[in-house]
Amino acid sequence: MLRSRIIGTGSSVPAKVLCNKDFESFVDTTDEWIITRTGIRERHIAENGDCTSTFSYRAALSALEMAGIAADALDLIIVGTISPDMPMPSVACFVQHMLKANRAAAFDLSAGCTGFLYAMSVADAFIRSGMYKKILVIGAETLSKFTDYQDRTTCVLFGDGAGAVVLAAEQGDRGILSTSLYADGAYADLLLIPGGGSLSPVSQESMENRQHYIKMDGNKVFKVAVKSLEEAALAALAQNNLTGKDIDLLVSHQANVRIIDAIAKRLKLPPEKVFMNIERYGNTSAASIPIALDEANRQHRIKKNDLILLDAFGAGLTWGSALIRW
Ligand code: ACO
Repeated sequence: MLRSRIIGTGSSVPAKVLCNKDFESFVDTTDEWIITRTGIRERHIAENGDCTSTFSYRAALSALEMAGIAADALDLIIVGTISPDMPMPSVACFVQHMLKANRAAAFDLSAGCTGFLYAMSVADAFIRSGMYKKILVIGAETLSKFTDYQDRTTCVLFGDGAGAVVLAAEQGDRGILSTSLYADGAYADLLLIPGGGSLSPVSQESMENRQHYIKMDGNKVFKVAVKSLEEAALAALAQNNLTGKDIDLLVSHQANVRIIDAIAKRLKLPPEKVFMNIERYGNTSAASIPIALDEANRQHRIKKNDLILLDAFGAGLTWGSALIRW
């Protein structure tokens, strides 16, 4: 059977770190509140002109090196992001140029924190159809540029960075077994950046009203996330005649340690089967799964033939899961 197998992973985060204590000086919060309610201790923040395409490029180089292929072998580059360098052109085109991946088509995909899963699912469909053989899939964000550092309910959550995987067409049982994507636009108001688009272009008024920053009803998002992620995980397992017992590692979107714990509990997964790095990166949105996957891979937490469950949830609202036989 023709499948997409991950043959390389990579990641990159900016050097600058903001610790929980740093926030205490400019918003009404505490290290204790942040760590207890979210699991986050620190996050990496872009500076000195670093942006979504520069993290993406560095993550891609690292993934290509592990894959052992040159950039000109790539047929396609997809970047999952909601924080592109600019509205146009796409981050994927900047990365294509930086890598000199001259043969590759390139586009961005917007699905909030589910962006990487959506992008990987699209790439998998291209590979299974026989259209492309080697695809670079990146999840990358610079959400610090869209974060309101006067809003304590969101500013403590987000971090910057990028993760990448190289997918290759291969015959056999290993690779992506299935992906399941979901969306419900009725919940769009729960998590959005209302200003700066065609509905409400940048203006003096929109800037004064801080409309170009992330607005989130975190508590409502939390409740929908736990329910939807559980359903997505169980549906993916059922589709492949598998159960929670078959999972070797859960690599979940790192939004909140309590959300990940709730999913792990419902799937009856012991802590050693749940990968977490939210403590060091915060919520990096579309970058969080590929950064986590790269760390798990490089720390040898994943072995050949392991069953990996990915799941994510984000703006849209969107959510989804993927099962991978490594
Ligand atoms: N410091 C101190 N107090 C705070 C802070 C803070 N940083 N932030 C909020 N609070 C207060 C609130 O004002 C509230 O106070 P009140 O009771 O006096 O009104 C209280 O803490 C509880 O607030 P809740 O919002 O109910 O807190 P909750 O336990 O839900 O935690 C959080 C908030 C961390 C945001 C959580 O709801 C969450 O993680 N939600 C999911 C986020 C998510 O997954 N988003 C999707 C991906 S993001 C993307 O797509 C870009």
